[in-house]
Amino acid sequence: MSYPPISEQVEDLDAARAEGHRKIEWAREHMPILAALREEFEADQPFAGQVIGMAMHVEAKTAALTQLLADGGAEVAITGCNPLSTHDDVSAALDEHPRITSYAKRGVDDEEYYAAIEAVIAHEPTVTVDDGMDMVAAIHEDYPELIDSIIGGCEETTTGVHRLRAMDDDGALRYPVFAVNDTPMKRLFDNVHGTGESALANIAMTTNLSYAGKTVVVAGYGDCGRGVAKKAKGQNAHVIVTEVEPRRALEAHMEGYEVTTMADAAERGDVFITTTGNRDVITAEHFERMNDGVVLANAGHFDVEVNLDELSALAVEEREARDGVREYELPNGNRINVLAEGRLVNLAAPTALGHPVEVMDQSFGVQAVAVRELVEHGDQYEAGVHDLPDELDREVAEIKLAAEGVEFDTLSEEQREYMGSWAHGT
Ligand code: NAI
Repeated sequence: MSYPPISEQVEDLDAARAEGHRKIEWAREHMPILAALREEFEADQPFAGQVIGMAMHVEAKTAALTQLLADGGAEVAITGCNPLSTHDDVSAALDEHPRITSYAKRGVDDEEYYAAIEAVIAHEPTVTVDDGMDMVAAIHEDYPELIDSIIGGCEETTTGVHRLRAMDDDGALRYPVFAVNDTPMKRLFDNVHGTGESALANIAMTTNLSYAGKTVVVAGYGDCGRGVAKKAKGQNAHVIVTEVEPRRALEAHMEGYEVTTMADAAERGDVFITTTGNRDVITAEHFERMNDGVVLANAGHFDVEVNLDELSALAVEEREARDGVREYELPNGNRINVLAEGRLVNLAAPTALGHPVEVMDQSFGVQAVAVRELVEHGDQYEAGVHDLPDELDREVAEIKLAAEGVEFDTLSEEQREYMGSWAHGT
């Protein structure tokens, strides 16, 4: 199935593009790291001759990254990495760039979603930039003949890195991919602050309900869960954490959260937010214990954390209670409200804007230097998952600190020698 670019799919193309450009402009104004890299890339044209295939959440901040790569010389083909997270106007604005083709469209079905990925692959990318690994998977499964000409890839999120490591362990990953997610500049800000702020904000906007005085259950106390728990506590909620990893459970306990099982939390929570990257975290045995009117939202990458098939099977009635809120009525009369079809709520809810701009400036700054590293030194990396060299992550941090006007100390020669030596004892 040949799949058309967004410009052939939207109705009022001029209006969509104008609105898309307005959104991108606002984002770009608040992305000093990408602005600094833009000066470098426009002058050096590091990506000239490269074709970059991207599968990302196509909204304004991602558009700023996409334009940066194209303005640095690349031909870029992009599509979404989630059927509900694309902003069509932004996608249409991107598609106007002479070196960008955007296939991303909101509300696509499974067949269209994968057809759009194939349309990107038809550009024969030399570099891939993924959020969730769907592009890498499609290339390996269906277009292995392209692999020899691919320098490498970059992966944005935890779930994508998990999948890639599993693929690597099986000896199936045939080109190098940077785990951009795992760098401090990404993980400690995007996953923690970005997910914390944007998941809570979007739940509040979608429901128009408050956290104050409520019990918020956070499933998973990894980077995302830490952020969600902390910010929910900051909004005066009582926070319960569920975990399967004993040290993370202990950490949450020592941070002052109540830690218990989902079976127990199910009976007491008002709002449930899953951040595990795992499946079946909330299932039939939990739905049956929940109170009337609870709100369920997922902030993990895939829509598998809340088992909606089981919920649907239990329900005697279903209806759209509000935009982005599906209400399931159980035989006992209790109603369970699921947000954004169980897809990641901060990007897929009807009014969702994703993470704050400043946070994505950092994440995409790391993406941009990772792509530059692949293009400049990709031949030095073997097939497999790689950490991004630390100096590249530091480079992004230094640009950000300079933009914020924050001064920080540097090691003296004596300190550097001391820190690198084993000879100094008591
Ligand atoms: P992480 O690996 O740091 O944390 C996940 C935690 O969930 C771990 O501590 C793990 O032990 C726990 N867990 C696993 N199964 C569980 C279960 N059945 N019950 C309770 N806890 C369980 O991962 P991170 O970085 O926090 O990412 C989590 C998910 O969020 C991933 O799918 C990731 O791709 C996604 N993500 C979403 C973002 C967004 O914009 N919504 C942004 C960044 C990541």
